[in-house]
Amino acid sequence: MIETRQTARTIAITSGKGGVGKSCITVNLGCELGRTGKRVLIIDADLGLANLDILLNLRPKGTLHDVLHDKCKLADVLLDGPPGVTVLPAGSGIAEHTRLSGDLRLRLPEIVGGILPEFDYVLFDTGAGIAEVVLYATALAQEVLLVATPEPTSFADAYAMMKVMALQQGRERFGLVVNQVHKGQDGREIAHNLQQIADRFLPGQVAHRVGLEFVGEIPADSAMERSVRARTPVVLHEPESAAAGALRALARVVSMQPPRLRGLRVVPERASPIAAAT
Ligand SMILES: Nc1ncnc2c1ncn2[C@@H]1O[C@H](COP(=O)(O)OP(=O)(O)OP(=O)(O)O)[C@@H](O)[C@H]1O
Ligand SMILES: [Mg+2]
Repeated sequence: MIETRQTARTIAITSGKGGVGKSCITVNLGCELGRTGKRVLIIDADLGLANLDILLNLRPKGTLHDVLHDKCKLADVLLDGPPGVTVLPAGSGIAEHTRLSGDLRLRLPEIVGGILPEFDYVLFDTGAGIAEVVLYATALAQEVLLVATPEPTSFADAYAMMKVMALQQGRERFGLVVNQVHKGQDGREIAHNLQQIADRFLPGQVAHRVGLEFVGEIPADSAMERSVRARTPVVLHEPESAAAGALRALARVVSMQPPRLRGLRVVPERASPIAAAT
């Protein structure tokens, strides 16, 4: 976790299974927080298959990896997104970027730590699954929002992801966002079931510390698909849609700073893979 003396909240949006809606949720959450006057930095931390620039219709002038390799300065690659939102894009389609290189491990916390004071929220849109580079990106953030859909495979992978973060990073609190919920399904019940699985299957000494917080649910809504095609977040593209309403509610819940998700020991000092960056 990046240590910081100021108040920026750093939140990783992650998932076990791919394609569950992390990037859509990140950009819409960022938009909503920005709209309410917060200064938001969204980092494309899906380092192998970055695509936030597509969802926000931005033209990157460079990427995070260019900064890591000293090809350009951070200020040159930051992009203005929707009001209040700044975006740090990453590259896509370069296999090398999916490896947790020494450069990434050493320099990313330093680079991000340097600009934290300028923001109220830093959102990391990570890749999916338990690859080292994904876990590393989640370890940079104080808080984790796990995204899952009601499908059994997504549900199982969410548990697997939670288990690895709990065991490897000592992370104890997870927010859960259930996306693509159909009529008759209940996100809160899904969170409850996942918590029960964690209680039952995580090793005893870890299980009693790990807690899952239901943060919100977003309905399956074709407005979301249309907004992706229009390269405009759904809260801006179809603000009256059910998905947009749910995303606004999600942003409100996140901004209420539930103490159960804040200020927790995330990476034990000794095991921290990341040097303090302030
Ligand atoms: N609530 C929703 N209703 C309908 N479709 C949705 C919803 N959320 C996401 N989608 C669809 O799912 C697709 C994948 O979403 P997104 O790219 O955000 O997933 P992801 O988890 O970031 O994927 P990856 O793991 O590849 O990074 C989107 O293009 C969108 O069409
Ligand atoms: Mg994504």
